[in-house]
Amino acid sequence: MAIATAGGVSFALTDEQKALRRLAHEFAEKVMRPRAAEYDEHSTHPADVIAKAHELGLLNAHVPAEYGGLELSGFDGMLIGEELAWGCSGMATSIVANALGTAPLLVAGTDEQKRRFVAPLVDEPILCSFALTEPNAGSDVSGIQTTAVRHGDEYVLNGSKMFITNAGHAAWLVVFASTDRSKGHRGLSGFVVPADLDGVVVERHLDKMGQRATDTSAIAFQDVRVPAANLLGDEGEGFKIAMRTLDFTRPGTAAGAVGVAQAAYEHAVSYAKERVQFGQPIAMNQGVNFLIADMATEIEAARLLVWQAAWLLDQGKRATLQSSYAKRFAADTAMKVTTDAVQIFGGYGYMKEYPVEKLMRDAKLFQIYEGTSQIQRLVIAREIFLPRDEK
Ligand code: CAA
Repeated sequence: MAIATAGGVSFALTDEQKALRRLAHEFAEKVMRPRAAEYDEHSTHPADVIAKAHELGLLNAHVPAEYGGLELSGFDGMLIGEELAWGCSGMATSIVANALGTAPLLVAGTDEQKRRFVAPLVDEPILCSFALTEPNAGSDVSGIQTTAVRHGDEYVLNGSKMFITNAGHAAWLVVFASTDRSKGHRGLSGFVVPADLDGVVVERHLDKMGQRATDTSAIAFQDVRVPAANLLGDEGEGFKIAMRTLDFTRPGTAAGAVGVAQAAYEHAVSYAKERVQFGQPIAMNQGVNFLIADMATEIEAARLLVWQAAWLLDQGKRATLQSSYAKRFAADTAMKVTTDAVQIFGGYGYMKEYPVEKLMRDAKLFQIYEGTSQIQRLVIAREIFLPRDEK
């Protein structure tokens, strides 16, 4: 494990972790950043960047060794995730979405399911998706309307999913559907659905404000016959599988938010040193100093919350509370830092030819996907007032 030492906790990274972080940073700098503005403008799916990330071992690095993967720790995944988002958070979301797609299988899949669906990701840059959200069920997962009806050794799926990362390019999706409407959240079940099955229809690529270099699509399931062998866990376990998945993946999303905030902060510091007004660099003004000081402090705090959540998860501990702390704080920090970076750049910051405008648009999504900042506060408050035993 990353920062755990025999005597307690250390904040020092190992030499391997420093090398991993350097690798991801160089990739972000040399491969992602030069393409970021163009892919953002055209909302391009970054297939070439994903392929290169796969070549370097930066895609699917979490896959267990048992299935041929590098089995990097969750903590190591945070280091990669932050750097990739520093490069371009749209492209980074395309890359790290595989951690979200595979997590339900790692949480609840059988050995056979993991061999069939997870192991092939190691050899090829195959993408997968996590299909939870629906047009009428976003924050309220228990309101899912997609149905799965058992017929012999198959389930027939019908319904629509919305805002699904990489859905237009995924080889398979984990789809959550109701197998028993009368049971509410206890009637939800998860299925691995190959995207080439008849009736899987990618309806449209959605045109987003930010993180435009990642595909976000609406997808429909029309009488899709899914083998019963693709059910994750037992019928009715879908809600908890989804929640446990999000416990694992929210720190990764938070790491991405830290990367975006860090990028905006770095741009703001260099600009404040260069920009001369009233005969001196604006960095000399206390008003600007205070913005920069808050940025630096809050980024560091967000990073440490991410590290803490990942550290707990790597030790096999439940980290619902800490994952939501990290996601809530890092997302809100990214929004604040990028907004202040635009402020420091003034009129130039509002222009597309300067980088902070994109960062501000990109940051907004961190407050929305994988549970809004309000849902994270709800989870935190519930953990405080109604703590659950490990389930
Ligand atoms: N781990 C295990 N079990 C959990 C759990 C967790 N973290 N959280 C809740 N549960 C259990 C509860 O103990 C309860 O169990 P019982 O049935 O035994 O009583 C059950 O699940 C229901 O829990 P709640 O009563 O808390 O459920 P709720 O309906 O009030 O909803 C919620 C809780 C936290 C609001 C949940 O609906 C939620 O997380 N919503 C946000 C959804 C979200 O994050 N969506 C993002 C989609 S992914 C994405 O955005 C990525 C992309 O591709 C763009």
